[in-house]
Amino acid sequence: MVKVREASPEDCLDIYRWRNDEVTRQMSQTTDKVARKEHEEWFAASLKNRRRLLVICEDECGDKIGIVHFEVKGNRALISINIAPHQRGRGLARACITEGIALLNSRFENIHVVKAEIKPENTASQQAFLNANFCPAKHAEALLCFEYSNTVDTQ
Ligand SMILES: CC(C)(COP(=O)(O)OP(=O)(O)OC[C@H]1O[C@@H](n2cnc3c(N)ncnc32)[C@H](O)[C@@H]1OP(=O)(O)O)[C@@H](O)C(=O)NCCC(=O)NCCS
Repeated sequence: MVKVREASPEDCLDIYRWRNDEVTRQMSQTTDKVARKEHEEWFAASLKNRRRLLVICEDECGDKIGIVHFEVKGNRALISINIAPHQRGRGLARACITEGIALLNSRFENIHVVKAEIKPENTASQQAFLNANFCPAKHAEALLCFEYSNTVDTQ
């Protein structure tokens, strides 16, 4: 079971460590290591940003699994996911994505489409998004795109 909640200031260091993980960096659009101070500033600004949602996923024991990140623009949201390195390969990514979108829908009305942009070599991520009912969409430059049609009844 995966539980989700909005990130809080106490999550700053874990998210920083996960972000600088070697595999995460390889699979990110920006592969440079992030400096601690830069991360802290980004994180503090993120918690105040009304168009950004950082979702922490936890298991039934309350141990952190990873983060799902949304950038909202109009009725569209861009999603990314980073599972903590020690939690990878346990088949949890799909539930993190699905539960993350459920939290997104509770915070934002009228999101029609959720989009993921993924490097071609990142097959685990592609599979996780396909498993979470995303469909292949028109690609953006060197990235593969997957879209989720958000059919939640918002009336
Ligand atoms: C990508 C990521 C979120 C996937 O999470 P995970 O816990 O490793 O993956 P899961 O165990 O949930 O498996 C997801 C699916 O990918 C498959 N998979 C896992 N590793 C794979 C690999 N190396 N090659 C192909 N498929 C793979 C699994 O079999 C599973 O599919 P299935 O359920 O149909 O069998 C995670 O590895 C991660 O955070 N990576 C670093 C950051 C990143 O790449 N983020 C995505 C950026 S778009």
